[in-house]
Amino acid sequence: MIEVKNLSKNFNGFTVLKDINFTIEKGEIFAYLGPNGAGKSTTVNILVTLLKPTNGRVKISGYDVTKNGMESRRIIGFVQEDFGLYPYLTVFQNLDFVGCLYHIEKKQRREKINDLLIFFDLWNERMIPASSLSKGMKQKLCLARALIHDPKILFLDEPTSGLDPLMSKEVLNLILKLKTEEKTIFMTTHLLSRAEKVCDSIALLNKGKILCIGKLTEIKTKLKSSSLEDVYFEVIGEAHG
Ligand SMILES: Nc1ncnc2c1ncn2[C@@H]1O[C@H](COP(=O)(O)OP(=O)(O)O)[C@@H](O)[C@H]1O
Ligand SMILES: [Mg+2]
Repeated sequence: MIEVKNLSKNFNGFTVLKDINFTIEKGEIFAYLGPNGAGKSTTVNILVTLLKPTNGRVKISGYDVTKNGMESRRIIGFVQEDFGLYPYLTVFQNLDFVGCLYHIEKKQRREKINDLLIFFDLWNERMIPASSLSKGMKQKLCLARALIHDPKILFLDEPTSGLDPLMSKEVLNLILKLKTEEKTIFMTTHLLSRAEKVCDSIALLNKGKILCIGKLTEIKTKLKSSSLEDVYFEVIGEAHG
């Protein structure tokens, strides 16, 4: 579903990503982990066609993101850290507006929005402006909005950032629930113990390089680690030392 080959990115001669390679299968939840400044968001931004790679190739469901940006964009949903909601529009209107941008017909749009409002438990808030939602509700609305066109792949850049533990748990449970809908999910997060409960595979990134990648269960066995947190400190700690 996602294929990244020899990807690198420079900003003004400064290398931020070096020779990144990975493949993500359909229906997989992939956690892209690493310290602040490792290059996670840069990678996501390239994958969602917001940034151009300096070198290498990215394919989304077979489409090259640099050559077939439009086709790639149609099959992806993207949630960023800063919400980017329309504050004066209601919850319903935020979803309806984006549904219109994707040219979804009115009847189908209504049905999809109702489903999403129920799925994300935002039904009672549907008539209130986005600006008066709590942080957790805003994040759920962002997730709902990213799903309006029924994308096959969802990119989530720190979907639980700034949320309290209960809300983070709820958001991650919703992500897990999306797995049953065959969505492929690429996420970055700092919540290792929660990520452990939802992801199938991981990549650990430090200073623009992938240090460790694969199925979480296999990595844990290989490193004789009992948790993702142990894996993280073992691998990233070594890189620092
Ligand atoms: N537009 C940009 N111009 C120059 N440097 C950037 C730009 N975007 C990110 N960087 C740098 O790239 C590195 C990786 O950033 P980022 O991908 O945001 O890391 P992460 O999401 O893992 O915290 C950082 O050193 C950051 O300062
Ligand atoms: Mg980031």
